Amino acid sequence: MAKLKDVFVAGGMPTVTYVDRKHLALEQALRVDLAEGFKIVAITGPTKSGKTVLCKRVIPEAKSIWIDGGQIEKSDDFWGAILRELRLPIEESEQTSGTVTASLKALIGIQSQLHGGVSVKFHAPTKKDILGLMRERGLTLIVDDFHYLSDELQREVVRSLKSEIFAGLAAVFIAVPHRAFDTISAEPEMEGRYAHITIPPWSVDDLKEIPRVGFPKLGMSVDATSVDRLCEEALQSPLLMQRFCGRLCVHYEVLETIKPEREFHPADAILVDIFKDVAKQFGFPTFEKLAKGPQSRSKRNPRRKKDGSGSLDIYQAILLAVGKTGPKSKLHYDDIRDALKDVLREIDIPQKHEVSSALGHMETIARKKIRGEPVLEWSKDYLYLTDPFLRFYMKWADESDFAFDE
Ligand SMILES: Nc1ncnc2c1ncn2[C@@H]1O[C@H](COP(=O)(O)OP(=O)(O)O)[C@@H](O)[C@H]1O
Ligand SMILES: [Mg+2]
Repeated sequence: MAKLKDVFVAGGMPTVTYVDRKHLALEQALRVDLAEGFKIVAITGPTKSGKTVLCKRVIPEAKSIWIDGGQIEKSDDFWGAILRELRLPIEESEQTSGTVTASLKALIGIQSQLHGGVSVKFHAPTKKDILGLMRERGLTLIVDDFHYLSDELQREVVRSLKSEIFAGLAAVFIAVPHRAFDTISAEPEMEGRYAHITIPPWSVDDLKEIPRVGFPKLGMSVDATSVDRLCEEALQSPLLMQRFCGRLCVHYEVLETIKPEREFHPADAILVDIFKDVAKQFGFPTFEKLAKGPQSRSKRNPRRKKDGSGSLDIYQAILLAVGKTGPKSKLHYDDIRDALKDVLREIDIPQKHEVSSALGHMETIARKKIRGEPVLEWSKDYLYLTDPFLRFYMKWADESDFAFDE
């Protein structure tokens, strides 16, 4: 007997439907690097491709200190977070005070200040003591979303870690873009003390493992054509795949294993409903920021739609047109112009320089107003859509979400 939420896990740590993608030997690569030691292991890969899941799978929770880069603003936050995670035994220290070293005592003191809400300034010797203690205890430091740390803090962290890494401390940094690790490779004496594991996007066969394992656990057999469709629409994202499978179960009210096993042949309309619903949840917040453009909408010309169903501003028109291309993850300006011809009346089609300027503004929004790796890039007449959730939203959004409001 299994519960739905324990089988298909979208956003957390899957166990039943955990897929190791053995052909890529990712777990093995991480295990080897950790076993060899004396290096920082950098893990990169597309957003939501399983970087965190891989680390949780390979490194036991009790043996690691997790720092979430997204929660860290300044240096003292970073060191405070580690110290908190260390959970030094305050009471035990009193009983065994004879064996407690002076530096451990000092750390326990700082820890209780932190718990009391005092803001603590961390100095070099304290940082060293913290890392030294982690090394003695065989704890791996994992910094998730390392790219959220400022360049300055990244450099400081790498510098502070350096001597402890040489002494045997294990550290894993997780990030989206490759360039997030420039700060490591730029640091002298780090050559050869830095390993890089890349998480590739998910193939259809990789994705297929999720329903192959998950549905039977719930007593369900879903026809191959529908499963293929789910894999196609998941745009290489295991997160979307987990969510689709979960939604299909909810649709049939299978919240835990059913007996006897049943066959399911979902109609196309059921799948489409699921896609539309999931799109709202995952891609909309990003899309909305892009569609707003840089300034207030009122300054923009309404452009009438070809089908007579209302007007769009240039940002909406471009996004709608791009969405109609599939959307592909890489598009040339000519593809966008052709798609705009299908969306707008002839006289309302924007000039190339207008399209280019609007896309430039959207790129700025993607860089400055949306967290993480830019979801969109406009460069040399090519548009790159790097975020699967944005692409998914553009494909499945209701056209009424693009309405021009005066
Ligand atoms: N190996 C895997 N097997 C099955 N599902 C996975 C796997 N890796 C990731 N997922 C799915 O994708 C989601 C996002 O994974 P996560 O590791 O948080 O991504 P990242 O850290 O790369 O942004 C998970 O919550 C899970 O639903
Ligand atoms: Mg993650």
